Amino acid sequence: MPDIVLKNVTKRFGKVYAVKNFDLAVEDRDFVTLLGPSGCGKTTTLRMISGLETPTEGEIKIDGKIVFSSYKQINLSPDKRDIGLLFQNYALWPHMTVFKNISFGLENLKWEKSNIKKRVYEMAELVKITDLLERYPAELSGGQQQRVAIARTLAPNPRVLLMDEPLSNLDAKLRMEMRSELKRLHKEIEATFVYVTHDQLEAMTLATKICLMKDGTLQQYAPPLAIYDDPKNLFVGDFIGNPSMNFIESKVSNIDAQSCLLKNEKLEFLFNFKTKTKEITEGQEVIVGIRPEDITISEDSTNKCTVYSTLPSGIETIVKMNLNGNLFTLVTFGRVDFKLDTEIGVAFNSNNYHIFSKDTGEKLATGSLKLLS
Ligand SMILES: Nc1ncnc2c1ncn2[C@@H]1O[C@H](COP(=O)(O)OP(=O)(O)OP(=O)(O)O)[C@@H](O)[C@H]1O
Ligand SMILES: [Mg+2]
Repeated sequence: MPDIVLKNVTKRFGKVYAVKNFDLAVEDRDFVTLLGPSGCGKTTTLRMISGLETPTEGEIKIDGKIVFSSYKQINLSPDKRDIGLLFQNYALWPHMTVFKNISFGLENLKWEKSNIKKRVYEMAELVKITDLLERYPAELSGGQQQRVAIARTLAPNPRVLLMDEPLSNLDAKLRMEMRSELKRLHKEIEATFVYVTHDQLEAMTLATKICLMKDGTLQQYAPPLAIYDDPKNLFVGDFIGNPSMNFIESKVSNIDAQSCLLKNEKLEFLFNFKTKTKEITEGQEVIVGIRPEDITISEDSTNKCTVYSTLPSGIETIVKMNLNGNLFTLVTFGRVDFKLDTEIGVAFNSNNYHIFSKDTGEKLATGSLKLLS
């Protein structure tokens, strides 16, 4: 049974639609990331699930129970929703020790004293802060404070944990570390996580499923690699992946059931369909999407281009290259570098190139490419 269900949820602030006709089903024990550019409605969505924000319209269920319904006039307060909340500004209580920070909420919930102590030690062990229990927040590093905040949130054993950019105050190295800790934690405590981030890499690496939003509407909801390999539209293709997908404008001609030609003033490709999602018509304006790792360097290829720039980082090198006046980005793995303006051969060996409608941005087809000129 899905753990959290949003049905036709809308939130308006005056004339602004923060979230619009939003449907989402988060399965039990999923780790879902809400991802999208600033202002797309991620925080608003999370706050509506938690009960801190009241939707203008719609219905929200948690664990089979309606917690909000504009139709049935139901609106449970946050403390009746069995959720844990963790925000960017997790503000620990400065005058309380770490122990007290974690135990305080349990005391308010009228837990028995011996149970509280046991639970605090369990939580401290889980997030590895057992030796810090007597310290005050000011005596902790950012990452340690973050872990205390996590322990405090998890202590009452919520079935659902809602997090809004909880790692964004940490430096890059610590953020990486905490990401893998969170992922382990998710497995160990068997709860459902909903996690807001605007960082696509964070969303990709943490989630069992990504919910990608734009302007308050859902763009795609799928596992990270499915979203990466099979973006539903231009926005998704562009937002997910770093370095970004290459896009080339072109026009469709000579279309039949198996293939079509894709042409602009500088390039001509033969495109063989693997899957077709939408009708494609002769003369249609389209945008071809090519992932940087789907262009490979190949000594003996007849597709010659010149090196425009290189960014070697040790593990990989990002190469920008000029192919008949079009700039493409490719990624090649390992310790390689090229002299600028030298000629290299490239091959298009994948069968996972996409064409999108220039007009609507929708994906039309996926297939293989052959460079003709
Ligand atoms: N209390 C409010 N009053 C008026 N408008 C609001 C309010 N809260 C949010 N909004 C608007 O609703 C939209 C969505 O905001 P929200 O905070 O959900 O975005 P977000 O995706 O979390 O962005 P960010 O990544 O910057 O945190 C924005 O246009 C925002 O300006
Ligand atoms: Mg936000």
